[in-house]
Amino acid sequence: MAIFAMGWHKPDNVAGSSAPAIMVGLFVATGGLLFGYDTGSINGILAMKTFREDFSTGFVDANQKPGMYPSQVSLIVAMLSAGTVIGALLSAPVGDRWGRRRSLIGAVGVFSIGAIFQVAATNVPTLVVGRTLAGVGVGTVSVLVPLYQSEMAPKWIRGTLVCAYQLSITLGLLAAALVNILTYEMPSAAAYRIPMGLQLTWAFVLALGLLVLPETPRYLIKRGYKDAAALSLSRLRRLDITHPALVEELAEIEANHDYEMALGRDTYRDVFFGEPHLGRRTLTGCGLQMLQQLTGVNFIMYYGTTFFVGAGVDNPFKISLIMQVINVVSTFPGLFVIESLGRRRLLIVGAIGMAVCQLLIASYATASGDSGDGNQNVILIAFVAIYIFFFAASWGPVVWVVTSEIYPLKVRAKSMSISTASNWLLNFGIAYGTPYMVDTKSNQPGSVNLGSRVFFVWGTFCIVAIAFVWCMVYETSKISLEQIDEMYERVDYAWNSRSFEPSWSFQQMRDFGFSDSGIPPTVPQLELQPSRTSSAGTSTAVSATTTSSTTSQDDKIISSLGHIDLSY
Ligand code: BGC
Repeated sequence: MAIFAMGWHKPDNVAGSSAPAIMVGLFVATGGLLFGYDTGSINGILAMKTFREDFSTGFVDANQKPGMYPSQVSLIVAMLSAGTVIGALLSAPVGDRWGRRRSLIGAVGVFSIGAIFQVAATNVPTLVVGRTLAGVGVGTVSVLVPLYQSEMAPKWIRGTLVCAYQLSITLGLLAAALVNILTYEMPSAAAYRIPMGLQLTWAFVLALGLLVLPETPRYLIKRGYKDAAALSLSRLRRLDITHPALVEELAEIEANHDYEMALGRDTYRDVFFGEPHLGRRTLTGCGLQMLQQLTGVNFIMYYGTTFFVGAGVDNPFKISLIMQVINVVSTFPGLFVIESLGRRRLLIVGAIGMAVCQLLIASYATASGDSGDGNQNVILIAFVAIYIFFFAASWGPVVWVVTSEIYPLKVRAKSMSISTASNWLLNFGIAYGTPYMVDTKSNQPGSVNLGSRVFFVWGTFCIVAIAFVWCMVYETSKISLEQIDEMYERVDYAWNSRSFEPSWSFQQMRDFGFSDSGIPPTVPQLELQPSRTSSAGTSTAVSATTTSSTTSQDDKIISSLGHIDLSY
């Protein structure tokens, strides 16, 4: 099938095996289940009869049934978001100090304590404590999973592995919807305790696996543990620690890190003002994460059912579930083409597709009024489905991929944590604010009465997103994380980044110094010229030529491996 041909191609000249790294990356991706399940389950739980009866403190709804005060509902929903923002921000200091793996285990632990509080809760305050703790865990996981994946993956499949994380998020959302449907009619507290308790299963499996997984080699280099980094890389690449390809990859990561540190420190101030171009990169990550939320996806994910009810659609629950299924299934096309099509093109195509759907929905709704007639509903459902397809195949996964790639090692955890926190902030803002934007019935103060016209808002942001990607997002596929650093230094405009060919060796720079042109001033001992097109198998990945008479034994071995791709 053409799409498979377009998908992944492990270059023939990659030394060792990519299988261990792929399996580790896929396993860690399951952290997305916590994210998706936790954000997806609460709406259904809040609507359950038994839950409302058990947690009611006296409020009765319009049908004289026990329920929750609006302030209690807000607290239960919002404290998860508050927790995620805190978790995302904490992930950097923790991840840099304790390591990506140990911090992930800690985050899953905090998440589990939160889940236990929720299952055991018999009143709102205990539930809120549980939700906040679970939120801290989810926020931390949402930074550390893509960080972990990108720091240990081979470059030719790095994007796909991070996409698998998004796939888990969508599976978590779907699982939450299904579990709620299966339990909501149960007559006892089991109706809500089962969905709450199931969170622990995902957490348990992830924590168990993490106990035996390696720390990322890049983190270990950052902390100066070179031997441990070699061991970790040797497990991931299934190569002996003395293998020249492994020695070379490690040396390049280390030299790149030394080079970055020579350009400036790794403080929070540097994240915004440091070199090389850290401010621009942080802005790119935050912009992408915020725009991902402003495409309006969670309007459908969180309020889809209510919105379809309001629009007079028959079977709103079923339609919402179908949207969740489309969200899962449509992640696969993105996963297949992210390496061949590249990040930039996929983001631009996705934003165009989403903008067209949303503007059509909004225009049609404006022309025909929010009448809820049959035709309007078919059009509404069809275009929401196509919109979800475009989101799930592009902005859903690719934003996580790009934000896990564009930062240099020295500030990677900090920059990722800030950009992810901006995702959660907007996630919260939209979850909180959209009911007021959409409400056409109550005429409450603050309501904007947009109805389906809210899609004009999302559509407009999708157009902004196209321009943003064009101007800001560099193409990061097929090159190593260290080569991405070189790209940011040598390519001035994002729209020229596709044609970038890496040519620096950070080891050469360390040994020989470098000039502003990027060309090492002295005749290099070892000239490494990895080509971006190499992973398509069309050209030699590395030409290693020894030009100095002082060639060491190691260099001789490496130069004899001229056909091996030494840059992961
Ligand atoms: C977003 C979530 C969203 C999910 C939908 C993720 O990438 O960050 O906010 O709910 O995709 O699949």
